[in-house]
Amino acid sequence: GEAVKLPDVRFSFNGIFGHFDRASAQRGFQVYQEVCANCHAMHQLSYRNLREIGLSDAEVRGIAATVQIVDGPNDEGQMFERPGRPSDRFRKPFANEKAARAANNGAYPPDLSVIVKARENGAAYLYALLTGYEDPPADVTLMEGMHYNKYFAGHQIAMAAPLNEGQVEFHDGTQASVEQLARDVTQFLAWAAEPELEQRKAMGVKIVLFLTILGGLVYAVKRKVWADVH
Ligand code: HEM
Repeated sequence: GEAVKLPDVRFSFNGIFGHFDRASAQRGFQVYQEVCANCHAMHQLSYRNLREIGLSDAEVRGIAATVQIVDGPNDEGQMFERPGRPSDRFRKPFANEKAARAANNGAYPPDLSVIVKARENGAAYLYALLTGYEDPPADVTLMEGMHYNKYFAGHQIAMAAPLNEGQVEFHDGTQASVEQLARDVTQFLAWAAEPELEQRKAMGVKIVLFLTILGGLVYAVKRKVWADVH
C-alpha cells in the first residue's frame, strides 16, 4: 500500500540540543514492563542500565527481584529459576521464537532493544503505530487475527492495539491517556536504542562552537596579516 505520512510528533531528544526526558523514560519503562514485556523481549538491556534514566540502585534491585530468571545448569545439571539481579538481561517473555509465535497466532513480536533505530524515522513511527489503530475502511477485509493500523506496512498487523486509556497507573500521577502511554514508551525505547544520543549531540554542539570560534580567529588573523597589502 501507499506510505502514510507520519504525524508531526516532536520529542525532547529531537534537534541538536536533544536530550532524554528522564521522567518520561521512567514512565515508559513502566509501560514496557507492564504491557509490552508480555510479548516483546529487550534482550540487549540489563536491569542495571535503568540507572541511566534516573532509577536508584535500590529501585533497580527491586525491579530485577520481581522477575524470575532462568539460570543454570546447577551442580546436578538442572536449570532453575531465581529472582533477577541488576546484572541480568531483561527477562524474555518466551523461551524461543517458536514459543513466541505459538502464543501470537504465528506472528513474531520482535525484540524492542533497538527497534527505534531499526525503523525509518523510528520514534515518530513507533508513536504513530501505537496510536494508529482504527476500524478498517469499508473496502478492506481483515485477515483472521489481524488488526487495522494506518501506519503499519500493508495496514494489517498481528498485534492488537496494546495501549488503552488508564491501563497503567503511573507512579508520578501522570494521566495515562493512550497518547501519553505511547509518548512515554517511545521515549524509553528511543533511549534504549541509543543511550549515547546525548553525548553524541553534545559533542556536535561543541564541534560547531569550536569551528565557529576557530573560523573567527582565522578570519581575524587573515585580516591582520594582509592589512598592509594594497
Ligand atoms: C509487533 C511494539 C505490545 C505482539 C510490534 C512492532 C513494534 C511493537 C514496534 C513491530 C512493528 C513493525 O514491524 O513495524 C510494541 C509496544 C508494545 C507492544 C511498544 C507495548 C506498548 C505488544 C503485546 C503483544 C504484542 C502486549 C502481544 C499480546 C506483537 C506481535 C507483533 C508485534 C505479534 C508482530 C506483528 C506483525 O508482524 O504483524 N510491536 N508492542 N505487542 N507485536 Fe507489539
